[in-house]
Amino acid sequence: MEQSAPIVVFDSGFGGISVLKQLIACMPAENYLYFGDSLHAPYGPRPAEEVRALTLAAIRSLLPEAPKAVVIACNTATAAALDSVQEFLPDLPVLGIRPALKQAEAAGCRRILSLATAGTLASPSYARQLKGLRPETKVFSIAAPGIVTYVEGGRTARDEVIAYLRALLLPVGTGEIDAAVLGCTHFPFAREELRTALGRDVPFFDAGAEVAKALSLALESSCPRSGKTAGGSVTFRNSLNTELAIRRSWALLTSPC
Ligand code: DGL
Repeated sequence: MEQSAPIVVFDSGFGGISVLKQLIACMPAENYLYFGDSLHAPYGPRPAEEVRALTLAAIRSLLPEAPKAVVIACNTATAAALDSVQEFLPDLPVLGIRPALKQAEAAGCRRILSLATAGTLASPSYARQLKGLRPETKVFSIAAPGIVTYVEGGRTARDEVIAYLRALLLPVGTGEIDAAVLGCTHFPFAREELRTALGRDVPFFDAGAEVAKALSLALESSCPRSGKTAGGSVTFRNSLNTELAIRRSWALLTSPC
């Protein structure tokens, strides 16, 4: 495998760029090819079978680039399609991402707000994750598709999304929770809006850094890589095939959150 071969990073849209940031922070010398399937976003409300087909089709279309690894930077696509993609590409490291419930629990949190897509929350993989927690850990699982729409749309309607989140969180009683898990890769891009809607400072957990660490181990490159610390590249592609989608991708990559 060519050392310079790209790492393919895939998401239903722009959300996976939050994971790409972590990958670059961990392995800055790598070449990344990011593909966002914004044409078919959101994946969250789609049946698992459809998400699997879309994910496989997207990954298949990127194989001519001869990637050295594939990261499914989408919790929904991971839940629906990780096994199928791994079966399809037995010779490549293929990693996915799942809500960081264990990480929140390991940090001592016991009343966890878990925000994800409907697809992730309904998946057998999420049910297994819940089963693996301690009996005293309480998880409040809420689907927040409005954040996906907000991020895909360029984060223009800030006040509306805060009002949406306040209404969404009302049944949970945010005074009760001691952590928020961002179980969809779009959600780190609405971290500040969430903090405002929560009205309290609780720790946020997502699994981006963990995925980066796992990939660096799989590729046997240290994290952060010693010696060569830069020099990699990022290429964006998006199924919308527009200049705006590529500009939006760069804006998210270079934004502070
Ligand atoms: N970014 C995706 C995730 O992590 C899903 C967003 C969507 O397309 O609904 O689950």
